[in-house]
Amino acid sequence: MARSALLNVMVQAVRKAGRGLARDFGEVENLQVSMKGPGDFVSAADKRSEQVLFDELKRVRPSYGFLMEERGEVTGEDEQHRWVVDPLDGTTNFLHGIPHFAISLSLEKNGVPVAGVIYNPVLDELYTTEKGAGTFVNDRRLRVSARREIVDCVIGTGVPHLGRPDHGPYLNELRQVMANCAGIRRIGSAALDLAYVASGRLDGFWEHGLNPWDTSAGWLMVKEAGGFVSDLDGKDNIHETGGIVAGNERIHGQLLATLKKA
Ligand code: IPD
Ligand code: CA
Ligand code: CA
Repeated sequence: MARSALLNVMVQAVRKAGRGLARDFGEVENLQVSMKGPGDFVSAADKRSEQVLFDELKRVRPSYGFLMEERGEVTGEDEQHRWVVDPLDGTTNFLHGIPHFAISLSLEKNGVPVAGVIYNPVLDELYTTEKGAGTFVNDRRLRVSARREIVDCVIGTGVPHLGRPDHGPYLNELRQVMANCAGIRRIGSAALDLAYVASGRLDGFWEHGLNPWDTSAGWLMVKEAGGFVSDLDGKDNIHETGGIVAGNERIHGQLLATLKKA
């Protein structure tokens, strides 16, 4: 599979940051049993990963802007292009020694994702996508699942927790979906959830309260794998609303309709 020069640059940056995260994850497993716990160490690991991504991307495209989870918005001379970066998605998993987390990087042109990379350094699964060029994991082309009825589907989601709003409305949604599908998964990384929809591991996914760095790369990945992605109203306002629903064409529609009943 031939990658564009741009995607190669992204892959290089993400792999470099991923090596650091994987090393730090090994340390977290030791700190788990210490009195202080690994909290401070993990936030340092998160920042280290972001710094690597920032330095690498700035070096190769000095004029592009950034939207980064830790650093926030960094405007560039080129107002059309920005990198959207989550240096560690799945922080709670990482902190608890659960080996399911990723780096998510996308390039947006005028607010629309045009290339994306999501990397799980523990499994060495590298998901890549470019507008018009499909989605791949390592070198294998991906396609969303072909299931036609939500009753046969495994659906991913994100469950709000302490400090997050709308527990009641979310429970109503969960009640609807759990009564109508084959299984629900809360795996703990929205970026990987979307990569899993692109790969067909999950048949669908929904969550509220996300940020562009959680969804930007995965949004394009699902679309380029033949899937459908929208906000909870079936529109494109994913960044604005923070809500996302994904699946193949039929399951996306059935999931939206199921959520509407909540
Ligand atoms: C979180 C993860 C999680 C989702 C949360 C996100 P973080 O990102 O993607 O799966 O449910 O809403 O904030 O904090 O680990 O980067
Ligand atoms: Ca995140
Ligand atoms: Ca994060």
